[in-house]
Amino acid sequence: MQKCFDEIPPVGVVTTKSISFAPRAGYAEPIYVRYGPGCYANAVGLANPGAEAFLKELETIEIPADKFLLVSIFGSDLESFLAAARVLAPVADGFELNFSCPHAAGYGAELGQELELVRAITRAVVAETGLPVLVKLSPMLAALARTAEAAIEAGAAGLTLINTAGPGLVAVEEHPVLSNRVGGLSGDAIRPLGLRAVELVRKAVGPDPVIIGMGGIAAPEHVRQYAQAGANLFGVGSALTGLDSRRMRDFFIALERGTVAGVGRTGYERSCDSAAPMDYFPTRIVQRIDFDESLFKLILEDLPGELRPGSMAGKFFFIWLPGVGEKPFAIFSVAEKSIVVRVVGNFTRRLSTLESGAKLYLRGPYGQGVPDPGPGALVHVGGGTGIASLFEIGEHFRGRLQFFLLGARTRTHLFDLDKFKGLGTVLTATDDGSAGRHGPVIELVEQAALEAGEHPIFINCGPAPMVERAFEIERRFSPPDRIIGSIEYLTSCGVGICGKCATPSGMLSCIDGPFLRWEEFQARRR
Ligand SMILES: Cc1cc2nc3c(=O)[nH]c(=O)nc-3n(C[C@H](O)[C@H](O)[C@H](O)COP(=O)(O)OP(=O)(O)OC[C@H]3O[C@@H](n4cnc5c(N)ncnc54)[C@H](O)[C@@H]3O)c2cc1C
Ligand SMILES: Cc1cc2nc3c(=O)[nH]c(=O)nc-3n(C[C@H](O)[C@H](O)[C@H](O)COP(=O)(O)O)c2cc1C
Ligand code: FES
Repeated sequence: MQKCFDEIPPVGVVTTKSISFAPRAGYAEPIYVRYGPGCYANAVGLANPGAEAFLKELETIEIPADKFLLVSIFGSDLESFLAAARVLAPVADGFELNFSCPHAAGYGAELGQELELVRAITRAVVAETGLPVLVKLSPMLAALARTAEAAIEAGAAGLTLINTAGPGLVAVEEHPVLSNRVGGLSGDAIRPLGLRAVELVRKAVGPDPVIIGMGGIAAPEHVRQYAQAGANLFGVGSALTGLDSRRMRDFFIALERGTVAGVGRTGYERSCDSAAPMDYFPTRIVQRIDFDESLFKLILEDLPGELRPGSMAGKFFFIWLPGVGEKPFAIFSVAEKSIVVRVVGNFTRRLSTLESGAKLYLRGPYGQGVPDPGPGALVHVGGGTGIASLFEIGEHFRGRLQFFLLGARTRTHLFDLDKFKGLGTVLTATDDGSAGRHGPVIELVEQAALEAGEHPIFINCGPAPMVERAFEIERRFSPPDRIIGSIEYLTSCGVGICGKCATPSGMLSCIDGPFLRWEEFQARRR
């Protein structure tokens, strides 16, 4: 959010995801799917950390005087809306009341159908907080115009139109994709519903209330269409799919320029479609190799596209098992078509039971690859499953002087050392002392750095404490732009749309990373 306020001049209002008084886990992955060009469905399930925790996050944000923080809240009744509003009022410039999410039983669109409840909740939040309140409605509402009028009569400053439509069920082959089975539709497919909703409501409420128009906005002509229908402000969601921080900024600047200049195309397609690969690629397991009861390798029949060894350096795929879930994994070796997996929870446990011939689906690849660090020797530091990302990176730099410092809890988790030895010098460490140095892998950094010569490039991959500690040691040997790392952030959509993988510096690990430079990790929110 801070990055949006600071770095994207055309963005005047930032709307938060919807927040409830109590934390809510939301649905398991997959949560976001593309079912046609520019057409998406999502079922995030109103995941949020709860009002108190979100307040702490928002307190760190500085909102410029000419910008507006619109905090979206939801609840199951009047009391729970009010409870969230009371907590968040000190940081909000205004509230948006979510009466329109179509995929969470007991919330959102279910409440929006009860006109008198919308009226009562709106009146109560306005009276309690004294802040501007916008009411967000669904295009599916039979009594859309009358509900909008009721919200304005109750004191709302305006309306946000529209939320996602539906819900709908998106399937690949015979399998529903979203873990919730159904989700809200967004993007190009719903622009006609959004335009119709804005036109209808503007006629009903008259010229004064603010209307934020959204639903399928991707190009200047869409903004003008919403303005023509009666909107004064314009929201963008799905069109940001697959845009990293830099391209998102470029997108908004082009959108504003094109709108003001009255041009149609500005180098961007007139669609919410994204270059991000979101199709599911079916493949099968050729072989499963168990290193021990909690670590195994899968050799796959095929990978999507024309991949060569080293081309998956710093990238990752999602594996989707219909009916089970979807989780991110690095390709261990393109040549071998392999993935190495550590069993940590439900998904990885189910994966560990699959036999040769079992079918699974890949989505990707995602990630920016490894930032170009310039010439020089490399010191790779891998801990736990972080090791699985390092072989492709080593392949990418094949021919250079390379050191692989590989750490694991025990000997059996130090896999395929011969492959690494084909690329460079290997030093190992284990927590239990069963192989290599007894202790954390970062204790090997100094030795390798001295052997690597002046200003080696460091590539770190593993748990956050390991990577952060490694950064501190490596700063003694190399400038910050030669220190690179990847920390395993919760990664759900992979295309920059759900915000779950945000790093402390505000970058999205899935789309800006997952490998980032030391400085990019360090830049904290002000
Ligand atoms: C870019 C990236 C590449 C990865 N590559 C590999 C790999 O090559 N091999 C490997 O074994 N693991 C890898 N992981 C981690 C792997 O995705 C998680 O271990 C897996 O999602 C756990 O799912 P689960 O249902 O078994 O566990 P859960 O019961 O869901 O959770 C157990 C723990 O796993 C982590 N986790 C859960 N969901 C996610 C998620 N969506 N994203 C990230 N972490 C999560 C959390 O720390 C959680 O506490 C990678 C993660 C990322 C982000
Ligand atoms: C992944 C995703 C998450 C969303 N989360 C919320 C939310 O928390 N609260 C809300 O009111 N709308 C939410 N929306 C709906 C959008 O704000 C927007 O109303 C809708 O997607 C239509 O705009 P678009 O076609 O530009 O995406 C979400 C949409 C997407 C795609
Ligand atoms: S995982 Fe959704 S934004 Fe990165």
